Amino acid sequence: MPFKLLSSPLQGFTDFTFRNAQQKFFGGIDTFYAPYIRFNTKMIIKGSYQRDLNPEVNTSLTVIPQVMTADAEHFLFVIKYIQSLGYKELNWNLGCPYPMVTKSGMGSGLICNTEKIDHILDRAHSETDVTVSLKMRLGYENTTEILDAFKILDKYPLKNIAIHARLGKQLYKGGVDLEAFQKCIDVAKHTLYYNGDITSVEQFNKMRDHFPSIQHFMIGRGLIADPFLPSMIKADTAEHPTNRWEIFKEFHDTIYEQYDEMLSGPVPIKMKMLGFWEFFARSTHNPHKVYKAIKKAGNPHKYKKAVDEIFVLQKQNHP
Ligand SMILES: Cc1cc2nc3c(=O)[nH]c(=O)nc-3n(C[C@H](O)[C@H](O)[C@H](O)COP(=O)(O)O)c2cc1C
Repeated sequence: MPFKLLSSPLQGFTDFTFRNAQQKFFGGIDTFYAPYIRFNTKMIIKGSYQRDLNPEVNTSLTVIPQVMTADAEHFLFVIKYIQSLGYKELNWNLGCPYPMVTKSGMGSGLICNTEKIDHILDRAHSETDVTVSLKMRLGYENTTEILDAFKILDKYPLKNIAIHARLGKQLYKGGVDLEAFQKCIDVAKHTLYYNGDITSVEQFNKMRDHFPSIQHFMIGRGLIADPFLPSMIKADTAEHPTNRWEIFKEFHDTIYEQYDEMLSGPVPIKMKMLGFWEFFARSTHNPHKVYKAIKKAGNPHKYKKAVDEIFVLQKQNHP
């Protein structure tokens, strides 16, 4: 059975700059989810979200916007906004695990509040013609939460439910709970997507064997760590292309230049790239050393020098 690979959203990483460069240099992703839109106090779509969803910078990508809220008015406002840009689907984040979010009843903290979920979905479906999909965890506190939520979700024509197979309270610690995900498959009426810890072709194949009925797999951190991963999964090979590091360098330089243009001054660009290197370093043969070299680079000149040295070393060690 054919399968689809989806880029799981990572706030601060999978914006239009990353998405376009990933597609240009590596490919393999069928659909990208944009990082969530969230309101602070005012119901205003921040400039960074507006830039990210602008159709003019997403021309060759399939992108699905996402919202994180526990407020029906906010949900409807975002639906109208994304529809005004031409998007047909809105993904709802019921997965974020951060205490600031869950304590205010959003993200994975909303999974147990089935009444509120019901109310928001009821309004979205009775007042608009948007397509809704969900991205959620198994629960915040325990895995029965998602099974209870399914009873409500079954009432609505959701496109799909993507499940990161962890609990909110785990944050990113501990393993994914494959047994609990299987229980979801056993009872779900909706199409489920698998998400969690796909970081290699081997890991992907394991998940595919484990869940033969699943046809959609979302990759989050693994895609940033190694943007070649989806194309290698599709080619079913654990081998990178022979010019791996040349391609990676071109990709790196492309996003660097674009972020440098958008951000003002040496500190923001350094922080932005350091965030990426936390993931990129994981695919190098000496992650700790690579990350340290980037962290140490105190100005753009030193940063570029450190990057050049890293690529030379990688080529020597993994030609
Ligand atoms: C830094 C960071 C930012 C994230 N931002 C989002 C987000 O905006 N929306 C969302 O649904 N999930 C977000 N996630 C969760 C990921 O999309 C994904 O569900 C999770 O990392 C598990 O998948 P993975 O093991 O393939 O990374 C974020 C995760 C991280 C680490």
